[in-house]
Amino acid sequence: MPTRKKIGLVGAGNIGGELARIAAERELGDVVLFDIPPKENFAKGKALDLEQNGSIVGYDARITGTSSWEHMAGADVLIVTAGIPRKPGQSRDDLVATNLPIIRDVANNVKKHCPDAFVIVISNPLDAMVYELKRVTGLPRERVVGMAGVLDAARFQLFLAREAGVSVKDIRTTVLGGHGDDMVPVLSHCTVNGIPVRQLIAKDKLDAIVDRTRKGGGEIVGLMGTSAFYAPASSAVAMAEAYLKDQKRLLPAAAYLEGEYGYKDLFMGVPVVIGGKGVERIVVIELTEEEKGMLAKSAKSVQAVVDVVKKG
Ligand code: APR
Repeated sequence: MPTRKKIGLVGAGNIGGELARIAAERELGDVVLFDIPPKENFAKGKALDLEQNGSIVGYDARITGTSSWEHMAGADVLIVTAGIPRKPGQSRDDLVATNLPIIRDVANNVKKHCPDAFVIVISNPLDAMVYELKRVTGLPRERVVGMAGVLDAARFQLFLAREAGVSVKDIRTTVLGGHGDDMVPVLSHCTVNGIPVRQLIAKDKLDAIVDRTRKGGGEIVGLMGTSAFYAPASSAVAMAEAYLKDQKRLLPAAAYLEGEYGYKDLFMGVPVVIGGKGVERIVVIELTEEEKGMLAKSAKSVQAVVDVVKKG
C-alpha cells in the first residue's frame, strides 16, 4: 500500500516553520515538527496553524508538533535546525559552544530513532556541526549533508542578476568551501546561460559581488537581528526533494570529503549529485590557481572549528 513520505524537522523555530510550510505546499510528505519540551506547545501550535493553512492553499499533508523523538521514527528525511542563530556582530563560529551540545543530543537521537533517514544539517557553524552529527551517528557519508552552498549560490546569483540586469533564472553559479566569510564563489564557472559572467560584468563590480556574497548571511543578521530563514528553508527543501524524488540534482552542498579536492575527514562545500541514494557523487571540477588558494584558506578555517569540536 502506498504511504506518504515522512519529513522530520528538528527545530521548530524560524527555519523549521518555513521548512514545514514549503514541504507541505510541495506535498513532499507528512511533516513532524520537533522541538525541546519547553517549546512543544509552540511546535504544536505552528503545526496546527500550517494544517489550517492547507485548507486554504489546498495541500494534503499531516503536520504535527512534538517534543518526543519516538514521533520522528521512520522519517525518510530529517532537516536539522536545532540550535541558536547568530546575533549581530557574531560569526557563525561564535555559536560552536552553544550549538555543539545541542547537535550531539540531536545526533544521539537520530542514531537511536531515525538510523535510515537522509539527514540535512543547517545548524551553524555548519561544516563543524554536520561533521559532528556524522561522527556521532556513524551514518554513511551518502546520508549526511550540510546545507550551505545552495543558499550561498542563491545569494551570489541574485547579486549577479541585479548587476547584469537579467533574470535570476538565467544565472548559473556555484560556491565552494566552508559556510563562512572565506567561502569561494567560483567565478570561473559562473555564467549567464552559458555566457561567462566575466564578459558581462566588470571586474571591480564582480569583486564587490563576491565580497557581498561571502558576507551575505551577516548582512541579513545585521538587518533583522537574527539569521535568514526564507532562502535557507527553500535551499534545504530543494535538497530534500532531490533525494525524495531521485532527481539527481547537481547542487553545491557540504559533503564529507575522503580525498576529493585534496581534503580528507572534513565536511566542505563541493558540487554533489543528490538522488535517491543520497549524496550519490561528489563532482570534482577544475579550479584556477587563485580559486584553489581560496579553497585552501577556507578549508583551514573549517578545520580550525572542527578541531575545537574534536577537543570539546
Ligand atoms: N533539539 C531540538 N530543537 C532544539 C534543540 C534540541 N536539542 N535545542 C534548541 N532547539 C530549537 C530551539 O528551541 C528553537 O526553536 O531550535 C530552534 C531554532 O530556531 P530559531 O531560534 O528560530 O533559529 P533558526 O533561525 O531557525 O536557525 C536555526 O540554523 O541557520 C542556522 O545559524 C542558524 O544555528 C541556527 C539554526
